[in-house]
Formats: sequence, structure tokens, C-alpha cells
Amino acid sequence: MKTLIYDVRELNDDNLKKIDEAAIILRNGGVVAFPTETVYGLGADALNHKAVSKIYEAKGRPSDNPLIVHISDLEQCYSLTDGFNETIEKLAQHFWPGPLTIIVPKSNKVPDITTGGLDTVAIRMPDHPVALELIRRAGCPVAAPSANISGKPSPTKGEHVVEDMFGRIDAIITSGDCKVGIESTILDLSEDVPTILRPGILTPEELSKVMGKEVIIDPAINKIRDKDFVPKSPGMKYTHYAPNAEMIIFQGEKEKVITEIERVKEQKEKEGYKVGIMLYDDQSYLEAAHELFAQLREFDKQNVDLILAGALNSDDSIGFAVMNRMLKSAGYIVVKV
Ligand code: TXA
Ligand code: MG
Repeated sequence: MKTLIYDVRELNDDNLKKIDEAAIILRNGGVVAFPTETVYGLGADALNHKAVSKIYEAKGRPSDNPLIVHISDLEQCYSLTDGFNETIEKLAQHFWPGPLTIIVPKSNKVPDITTGGLDTVAIRMPDHPVALELIRRAGCPVAAPSANISGKPSPTKGEHVVEDMFGRIDAIITSGDCKVGIESTILDLSEDVPTILRPGILTPEELSKVMGKEVIIDPAINKIRDKDFVPKSPGMKYTHYAPNAEMIIFQGEKEKVITEIERVKEQKEKEGYKVGIMLYDDQSYLEAAHELFAQLREFDKQNVDLILAGALNSDDSIGFAVMNRMLKSAGYIVVKV
């Protein structure tokens, strides 16, 4: 398949024309990758069964793993859910556009393929001028998972999307680095207690403050799962963010972790391994979020065989969110030192 590439950095007249072309592709049932503030998305008309099926095909994504529906205007929410209420309104006022996805009961307008057969739908308004302009011009809500091949780290740079999706979809809009670098916080509002199903840079404390009630974190996050486990978010059960290299996380006192990583590195290099090291400063977890997926892809490019990573402090909300991605990347291999 021929894939058009539109590079769009700022919203000048030339670039708005490119966005218009991409919007027409979406409206006609095509698949277009586009930037958001979190990671790049792989978009199609969320209300068009056939268009959405092309996303699953391009990603190699299991069909029971639902997609997030992206909107540019709060009014689009009214027709996607039967359960619109004050809480949604409040959250939207505070956090949209932004890295928050809400799970709410779906309306019958949303096709089953978009929600993986669930009776709830995930909705988010991304905080990126190109994404908002694209959705607005397409005139439809846009279903979009992260624009990576299923199982690979999410794309945070235009070139990552080109690597994974060139030849598989109709068009890619590249627009430099994604500001945040990890995916949105997913908040399930479909049950009594609001529950975070995927941690992100919006923290439970911030959400709780705006809603005026307690928000809990799904205890299934960051747990190794047995074969009988049925997660609330179908995406939880699949392999994620896996680099080609084997990855090990070292957890413990900072100094000990560094000493152990250096020891293992030396030993493994003697055995002929190419070793990559991933260490983040406690003071800059936002930076870690921004770097993580790009770093994993960079190790793959350099043919690294083994990644040795220092654990982040999970008492910090953003540390917890980044650590969640690292644990998945490493297949939950953690060594305590
Ligand atoms: O930041 C993001 O959220 C990015 C950008 C592109 O917006 N999107 C993203 O989509 O990360 P994806 O498909 O890679 O991850 C969405 C996750 C999946 O784990 C999926 O299982 C879960 O959201 N999900 C979607 N709809 C759901 C629903 N109705 N109930 C529970 N989980 C749902
Ligand atoms: Mg994803």
C-alpha cells in the first residue's frame, strides 16, 4: 500500500491543506497516523466498522482489545455515551484537551469493533493542535490506538511511526516529538468507584480533587498475571512495549543498584553481550516518561542484547506510571538488590 507522509510542524496555510487531505482520507474510511501529546495514534473513523477493522489489521492487534475514541469537541461525547453526566463534564472542563481517557457506557452509535465487544467506550480529547484540527476537519470521532505494531513500544517520534506503519496505512502525519511520551491515564467511570486502569502523568490525586471523591488504582496494575486472570482493560493481558533485547530491572537502594548494574554489565560484556543501561534520576520522572519508549527503540536499533534498568520510585505517581511501562517491557523481570 502506498503511504503518504505529511510533515506538519505548525498550523500555517500549507500545513492546514495537508491536514485537510488527511481528514478526507479519514472521512472516506482510510487509516491515518497522527501526533498527540502522549504518543502517536493510528486513526480511523470510530463509527465506521470497516475503517476500524483496518486499524486492527495494520497493528496486528487482537480484536478483543478496544480502542480509544478521540474527539475534538465535548459535544461529540453526547452521542458516544448514554451516560453523560456532571462528573464527565467536570473532568472534561479540567483535563481536556489532555492526557486523560475516560471509560463510560457506550451508546448504540459506537460499533462493537471499536469497543472490542464491550458495552463501554473509552473517550479522550488529545492536547495537540494537529490532532484537534484533524479530528475537527474529519468531522467524525477518531478511534486510535498507539501507532505501533502490536507488542512494540509506543511511538513518540514521527520516525517511529514511519518505521512501524509505512506501507501498511494510507497516511502518516509526522510532527516531531510527543511532549508527554507515555500514554494517557485511563479512568474507568463505568462502575461505582472511579478506577484507574492505566496510570499516566495525570495522577489519582489530581483526578480525585476535581471529582471530589476517592479514585482508586486497579490493584491488577503491575501484577504478574496467571492464566485465569480476567482484566477490566483487555489491553492489560497482552505483551507490551517489548524491545528485542532481554530486559532486567534492578530494584533497591540507588547505590547498590548502580553497583550491581555495573557488575552485571561487565560480566555480560565479557560473554559477548551488547548491553544497554537505563537509569533515570528520581528528580525527573517527567523526563523519564518522555524518553522511555524512544530509548527502548534506540536500543533495538543498536542491536543491544540485554538492557539493565534501574527501578523508579513507585511512591511517586509519575514514577509509578513510567515503572508500569518498564515492568511490561521487561516482562516483569525484577531483581532485588
Ligand atoms: O495516550 C493514549 O491513550 C494513546 C493516544 C494515541 O491517544 N492511545 C493509546 O491507545 O494508548 P491504546 O489502544 O494503545 O491503549 C488503549 C488501552 C488498551 O489497553 C485498551 O484495552 C484500553 O485502553 N481500553 C480501551 N477501551 C476500553 C474499555 N472500554 N474498557 C477498558 N479498557 C479499554
Ligand atoms: Mg498501545
